[in-house]
Amino acid sequence: MLTEENLKKVDELRKRYPKSQAALLPVLWIAQEQEGWISEDMMRHIGTMLNLPFGHVLGVVTFYTMYNSAPKGKYHIEICTNVSCMLRGSDKILEAVEHRCGAKPGQTSADGKWSVSEVECMGACGGAPMLAIGEEYYENLTPDKTERLLESLK
Ligand code: FES
Repeated sequence: MLTEENLKKVDELRKRYPKSQAALLPVLWIAQEQEGWISEDMMRHIGTMLNLPFGHVLGVVTFYTMYNSAPKGKYHIEICTNVSCMLRGSDKILEAVEHRCGAKPGQTSADGKWSVSEVECMGACGGAPMLAIGEEYYENLTPDKTERLLESLK
């Protein structure tokens, strides 16, 4: 369930849209910021609030990689492997991440520290290859830079 504070944010958001269903994406974001992921219970809660069927909410959550439908590790590494990043060596960045974190795309490391996801273009092609951790982008990566970046995260 959303907190009282977040329910107020949702009420404010709904006023900005002609239909409250249109507020689904930002409401899901609020839920994810609160919990770190979006459970099926939360999807039902949001569906009831916005008058949307559960299947619709589930479809949106599972379509966009920005939403987590399962708990993630302390650090969620999203590696772009789309065209620009692929041409600039994202496969080597992914190898470095897998080696350092002990997790492959779709997995969380055994210690719960790292979750790894392979994602489509994140709009930072000019800095390819890149990855994101939370809301931070790390660009123009090399395997060495990636190792140092991950090493710096405690
Ligand atoms: S292809 Fe990787 S950010 Fe665009």
